[in-house]
Amino acid sequence: MAVENISFLKQELVGLHVLDLPTPSFVVKESQINKNCAGIKKQVEELQSLNKCKVQFRPHLKTHKTKEGLLKQLQDGFTSAVLVSTLAEAEYILNDPVVKDKVDDICYTLPITRNALFMKRLMKIESELADFRLFVDNLDQLHYLSKFKPSKGKWSIFLKIDVGTQRAGCVRLSDDFKSILAGLSEFESSVKLYGIYAHAGHSYGFSSKEEIYKILVNELHETFASSELLKYHFKNLVLSIGSTPTIRSIGPEQEIVDLMDQIATLGFTLEIHCGNYCMLDLQQVSTGVSDINNIAGFVLGSVVSSYKDRNESLSNTGVIALTREKSSFKGHGLVFPAKSFVENNNKIESSETFYIDRISQEHGIVKNSKGDLLDIGTQLVILPQHACIVASNYPYYAVINDDYIVTDLWVPCKGW
Ligand SMILES: Cc1ncc(COP(=O)(O)O)c(C=O)c1O
Repeated sequence: MAVENISFLKQELVGLHVLDLPTPSFVVKESQINKNCAGIKKQVEELQSLNKCKVQFRPHLKTHKTKEGLLKQLQDGFTSAVLVSTLAEAEYILNDPVVKDKVDDICYTLPITRNALFMKRLMKIESELADFRLFVDNLDQLHYLSKFKPSKGKWSIFLKIDVGTQRAGCVRLSDDFKSILAGLSEFESSVKLYGIYAHAGHSYGFSSKEEIYKILVNELHETFASSELLKYHFKNLVLSIGSTPTIRSIGPEQEIVDLMDQIATLGFTLEIHCGNYCMLDLQQVSTGVSDINNIAGFVLGSVVSSYKDRNESLSNTGVIALTREKSSFKGHGLVFPAKSFVENNNKIESSETFYIDRISQEHGIVKNSKGDLLDIGTQLVILPQHACIVASNYPYYAVINDDYIVTDLWVPCKGW
């Protein structure tokens, strides 16, 4: 259904049972998002209670891109600092008076784009916030930024380091890293270093608590070692680490406590960042640090045909509904007949179920290892491989309560 008239859609859909929703739909179980958000807050509070370095929290908006989800992530003033992956997300926050009031610090999590209109939007966002942070991982970006004068006189930047993901970020002690350190003095009239930022995205490719923990320790160590090189020139640096898997595995282990002690000695702050934790998905469960029963968002689909000769059914959930993301779970999403999923109150005992084996734009092929067929008309709950990318394809999410009744529709921010 199109979203042009959200109040009409709300009239139509709020109050329905989840099984009566149109398909495909993206459904969010509100109590589970609440639990996931409260769980991370508790973990951060435990780190704070160790009384080592100062610890702060910065959630990412990108998984759901909604004001309703962001308000839950902020946990009633526990934090007012957020991450965004597009300028549109920052503008969306600033255009909503309720959310704007609760956010005073936004960090844009890609290196800047060299484009006049991009910079015009960036300058406007910067002027409307108490604090706005940018990523720098190449000297060229400092040159370019120095041509623009932000309202606060200087751009506040995170030095983005690569701790193994090989996406954005420069490697500690690499030529790029050293040239940025030199550039921080050369361009000191236009930029101010706020901190060091690492994102352990490669943790998604691992499948045990032990492996993820090692990545976490390395991430923290690399961030700290980078900050040590700057300790004589900068005070109050913020060392930001995260990714849902590494943050799910952080706790008061001796190595972590020792590193926090060292951060405290320099007078620096540890920042914990993550985004997917609020929704979770099969990729997170694959890492071994999240539980399949804690996944808060799923796709609702329908069986629209079935083929006895090849033991396969057809769903109306193709690439657009599910994406081509994968994990150690088979296919493009785990499939449960929706009626029994609801009756079992989404307690999933075993992963031996149906899955989406192949997909094209709107078609999905559903099968299981026993060759069972699903009746035409069966509603399907499909647990997504990667919630952030799947959710971004939907014009709205149907939010349900514990009785599986739709209570609200959330409309996500779109575009860049
Ligand atoms: C730079 C950056 N920081 C933080 C996050 C949040 O990571 P996660 O969703 O694993 O918690 C992402 C996610 O892609 C990211 O790209």
